[in-house]
Formats: sequence, C-alpha cells, structure tokens
Amino acid sequence: MLKQPIQKALNEQIQAELYSSYLYYAMSAYLESKGLPGAAGWMRVQAMEELTHADKLFKYINDRGGRVQLAQIGAPGAEWPSPAAAFEAAYNHEVSITERINKLVDISREHSDHNTYNFLQWFVAEQVEEEATASEVIDKFRLADTGGGGGMFMLDRELATRAFVMPTSEKG
Ligand code: FEO
Repeated sequence: MLKQPIQKALNEQIQAELYSSYLYYAMSAYLESKGLPGAAGWMRVQAMEELTHADKLFKYINDRGGRVQLAQIGAPGAEWPSPAAAFEAAYNHEVSITERINKLVDISREHSDHNTYNFLQWFVAEQVEEEATASEVIDKFRLADTGGGGGMFMLDRELATRAFVMPTSEKG
C-alpha cells in the first residue's frame, strides 16, 4: 500500500510527464511549421516517450494498490524564438524534470519506501539520457548554424532517423 505523500508525489509526476509530452508535441508542431520535418519527427518521438514514462508511473501506482488521480495539464505554448531555442528549452525542461525525480527519490527515502525507491532508479538513469540527447542536438544545431543552409538540411535529415522504441521491461 502506498503512503499518501508518496501517492501524491507520484501522481504529480504523472502530470509532469504528460505535460512533457504535450510540450514536445507543441515543439514538434512548431518545428514542422519551420520546414524542419526531421527535427519535428525527433521531437514527436520524444513526446511519445514521455507518454511511456507517464504510463510506467500509472501502472506502478496501481500495482501498489494506490489510486491514480489525474490533474489538469497546462498549455505548453506554441512559438519559440528559433528551432535551436526550442531544443534549448527542451533541455532546460529535462533539467527541471531531473530535479523533480531527485525530490521524489528523497521523499521515498524519507518514508522508507524501498519499493518506490527501487522503482525510481529507472527514472534516475533515464534522466541522464534525456539531458544528454537534448544537449547533443543543441550542439549539432550550433554546428549546423555555422555551415549555412546545407548544414541545417543535413541535420534535419539526421534527426529524421530517430525512431520510437518501446521501453523494455528490464528497464522498468
Ligand atoms: Fe520523462 Fe523527458 O522525462
């Protein structure tokens, strides 16, 4: 059985993951409008991954006999100053999600909830990847910017190769 403060924090994290998905779908739409279908596809895959993060939390709360309670999700905005700025905002968002996950881990320890602590380790590891992948794309945008239109075209083609992969059960 989940303690109330843990259940509340996990439910808030479902909301944060669904907001992340919403935000990345908004960024994907923005990138599409800027004529970058590859970057838009990359961001849409990111949005789909966020749905799997929310789903993982959803299932965990139910498995522990808790109650999922969904809250309102805010509007993510629709415009960014540039495509590179959208990826920078995505990176900053991931940093804020990492902070949230760390706080969740702290709460699980405060309540000696070892199951939740173990469950959260998947998210701790995932956040390293999440920050790194966004940061890599930002670096590539900087390089592409110095290479003229051809550089951006090549980068967009590269970003188009990202495919959605369902997380494996070993990862949580
Ligand atoms: Fe679910 Fe990008 O953190």
